Amino acid sequence: MNNEIKIFSPATVANVACGFDVLGFCLDTIGDEMVIRKTDEKGIKITKIEGYDLPFEAEKNVAGVSALAMYNDLQPDCGFEIEIYKNIKPGSGIGSSSASAAGSVFGMNELLGQPLDKAKLTYYAMKGEALASQCEHADNLAPAIFGGFTLVKSVNPIQILELPTPSDLYATLIHPQIEIKTSEARAILPKEVPLANAITQWANVGSLVHALHTSDYELIKNALNDVVIEPYRKQLIPHFDAVKNSVLEAGALGCAISGSGPSIFALSKNEATAKTVENAMKAIYSKTAIKFETYVSKINTQGIKTLSK
Ligand code: HSE
Repeated sequence: MNNEIKIFSPATVANVACGFDVLGFCLDTIGDEMVIRKTDEKGIKITKIEGYDLPFEAEKNVAGVSALAMYNDLQPDCGFEIEIYKNIKPGSGIGSSSASAAGSVFGMNELLGQPLDKAKLTYYAMKGEALASQCEHADNLAPAIFGGFTLVKSVNPIQILELPTPSDLYATLIHPQIEIKTSEARAILPKEVPLANAITQWANVGSLVHALHTSDYELIKNALNDVVIEPYRKQLIPHFDAVKNSVLEAGALGCAISGSGPSIFALSKNEATAKTVENAMKAIYSKTAIKFETYVSKINTQGIKTLSK
């Protein structure tokens, strides 16, 4: 059996407008690379981190925390070294911590001969994710591990539903180079939701799930609306309304905050529209002093990919 695996651990978009903490989808063109290696010496060691300044102590690093949770339960007859090559900026709203937390447990599971299923990997990855966001949620982890669109039915016990991906669906993202900590973006949310807003929101979630199953792009367009979270969080993201208005005019099906921001995502039917939408996003932010990156990505239906083993 191989002692080393190199993986691509993808960025993800959580919430998908209406599905706060439950819906997510997986991106294809943005992600981290990680190498996980079996060692004779027991324990979990993070031996290399490139890209961003993150802690090497396993107990303080999301990839280390998820790895330790799995390792302590499985008690394998070996240890593991983890190398992290980070491309996803922490605090970007596209699942940076999830990519790390999911990547380590995915790689270990492969090297151990796949003793765990994807739901169990999500469970361990959630332990690492909790270090970053101070609460256990799996709406970035599930799409990273399962691929495509996912719905987190429950975190305790962990129950993930895989949703179909309409074949023409493309995502466009803009990442303004400001940092929003998930914990802070959660702290500003109200603890209670007015019933009328809750009704709108769960109608949208149900409609979006149905639309994904039936590849109904008009219904996707109708359902991509967030009346619960966006009104509070959009104040943290400069020019959010201008971007949203402009990309909807450019033909996007919908536009919302990616995870806890500051990234903003749009979904479009076909790649050409997704690129027009990208230009619309760029046009708004080019007029500001804020640096930004944009991406166009197909939905990644595979999730984490093995690059070499
Ligand atoms: N559902 C989470 C949130 C995703 O919006 O706070 C961020 O990691």
